[in-house]
Amino acid sequence: MGRPGEGWARVCDSSLPAGGIIAATVGGLDMVVWRSMAGIPCVAEARCPHQWSHLAGEGAVDGEELVCLTHLWRFTADGQGWKENLSGRRDRKGDLAVTPCVEQDGGIWVQAED
Ligand code: FES
Repeated sequence: MGRPGEGWARVCDSSLPAGGIIAATVGGLDMVVWRSMAGIPCVAEARCPHQWSHLAGEGAVDGEELVCLTHLWRFTADGQGWKENLSGRRDRKGDLAVTPCVEQDGGIWVQAED
């Protein structure tokens, strides 16, 4: 992945804290920007693939995953969808489309569509 420049969109400031989640729009698409508790920035489609909850409103960060609080599907930073039961069993669910991002110059950036 290249460096931000022409054709890149800044989706938020680097001040987004660990565990933070915000909505963004890139090229007319609704996105969610979140930061894992380890500090990794992530950008993905905003809508949960289960029943379409907006993850900026219905999401919460749990460690290195974004959890949809509507029915508790959870997504890794690379978009893998899982459901975890109380005993820790994890079953695969639908995936979230992730947009690669970089963090530099005080912001989090994604490559915008041409
Ligand atoms: S709408 Fe997200 S888990 Fe059901």
